[in-house]
Amino acid sequence: MNNGTPRMGTLAVWAGEEDPTSGAGTQVPIVRSVAFGYHDVSEWEAVGRGQTTGDIYSRNTNPTVRAFEQKIQSLENAEAATSFASGMAAISNTLSTFLTPGDRIVSTRDTYGGTNKLFLEFLPRQGVEVELCPTEDAAVETALTKECQVLYLETPTNPTLKVLDLTRLLKAGQKAGTLTIVDNTFATPINQQPLELGADLVVHSATKYLGGHADALGGAVCGAKDLVSRIYHYREITGAALDPTAAYLLLRGMKTLHLRIERQTESAMVIARHLSSNPAIAKVHYPGLEEDPGHLVAKRQMRGFGGIVSFELVGGTNAMRQFLPRLRYAHRAANLGSVETIAGPPSATSHVESTPEERLAAGIPEGLVRYSVGIEDTTDLMADLDQALAP
Ligand SMILES: Cc1ncc(COP(=O)(O)O)c(C=O)c1O
Repeated sequence: MNNGTPRMGTLAVWAGEEDPTSGAGTQVPIVRSVAFGYHDVSEWEAVGRGQTTGDIYSRNTNPTVRAFEQKIQSLENAEAATSFASGMAAISNTLSTFLTPGDRIVSTRDTYGGTNKLFLEFLPRQGVEVELCPTEDAAVETALTKECQVLYLETPTNPTLKVLDLTRLLKAGQKAGTLTIVDNTFATPINQQPLELGADLVVHSATKYLGGHADALGGAVCGAKDLVSRIYHYREITGAALDPTAAYLLLRGMKTLHLRIERQTESAMVIARHLSSNPAIAKVHYPGLEEDPGHLVAKRQMRGFGGIVSFELVGGTNAMRQFLPRLRYAHRAANLGSVETIAGPPSATSHVESTPEERLAAGIPEGLVRYSVGIEDTTDLMADLDQALAP
C-alpha cells in the first residue's frame, strides 16, 4: 500500500514538472533566454534579493534548470539541490565552497580520475592538505583523528567498483565534525541514497546515468538548504551554470531512470556471473557477486548493485587491446551510464588524465576493462562478449 509518499518511479517521471499552468504544454519548455524582464523595478529588486521567486539572469537561475534541480532533489530526498555544467564542476565548486588554505580533506586513493587530479594537483596548490587513504582497512578513520574539514567518498568506485561502508565512514566523519560528501554517480538514487545513510551532501555527474543517453553534460549537488545555498552562491559568481538545453535533455532522460537502472542492474548481474565462468577472464569486479569483497556492505547499503562490471583478462593489457575492438555491441568510448553498452580501459576513460604511476597508486590495473552495461538484450551482450573473448 502506498501511504501517499510517491515512490522512485513516480518521482522520476513527475518531480519538478507536476504543475504546468492551465493550457500550457505538458513538457517543461527549454527557456533559452539569458535574462528575464521586469516592468516594475521594485519587483525586479525583490526577485534579485530572493524575496520573491523569479529569475533575473540564467547564470544564477533558469526555469528549465530549476525543473532539473527539483527532480534530482526529490530523487535524493534532499532539502535542496543545485546544478552545474558538468559533474567535475559540481565536485570542484563544492570543494572550493568549503575548503580554504590551511584546511584538510580526507578521501580515498581510488576515486574518479578527475576527482583524483583535484586531490593530487589543484587542492594542494590552493593550500589544502589532502590525505588519500586505502579503502581496505581503517585508514579513513585514523586519518579523521587529525583535524579535517571535509570527508569525500565515492562508492562504488570508478573503475574498480570498490564498495565503501558508508554507514561506518559517515559516522566517523560526523564524530570528527567534518562535512561529508558522497559521489553517487555510479549507484544513482535508484540504487543508493547516501543522505539517508548520513551524508551531508551528494554529488552527481548527471552526464552519466541521470541523463542516460550520452548527449548532455551536467552535474548536481543535493543536501540541506543552508549547505546547498552556500554552494549555489559560489557557483552563481564563478559561473559553471548548467545550460538550459542540457537541463531539458537530462530531465527527459531522468523520466526513465528507474527503468534503465533496473534493467542495467539486472543485466550486469547476469553478465558478471557469465564472465566469471569464462576461462579468458582473470578477475571480475562486481559488488553483486557473492565472492566480491564489497558484496556484504553493498547488500546492506544499496538496493541494487549497479550496471557497471569491470574485469581483467588472463592475457593482461595485450589481451584487453585485442578484445575491445572485437566487441560489436559497445561503444569504445570514455563514458558510462548510457542506454548503449560502453567499454574501455582506465587509461583512456576514467583515468585518462592520470599518469601510469598515479593509476598504479590508486590500485587500478592497466589491463582493466570497464564495461557499462546498456539496455540491450542481455543474451546478445553475453554472446558478444563470448565471441570477443574467444581465442
Ligand atoms: C564517479 C564520477 N564522478 C564524477 C565524474 C565527472 O563527471 P563529468 O564528466 O560530468 O564532469 C565522473 C565522470 O566520469 C564519474 O565517473
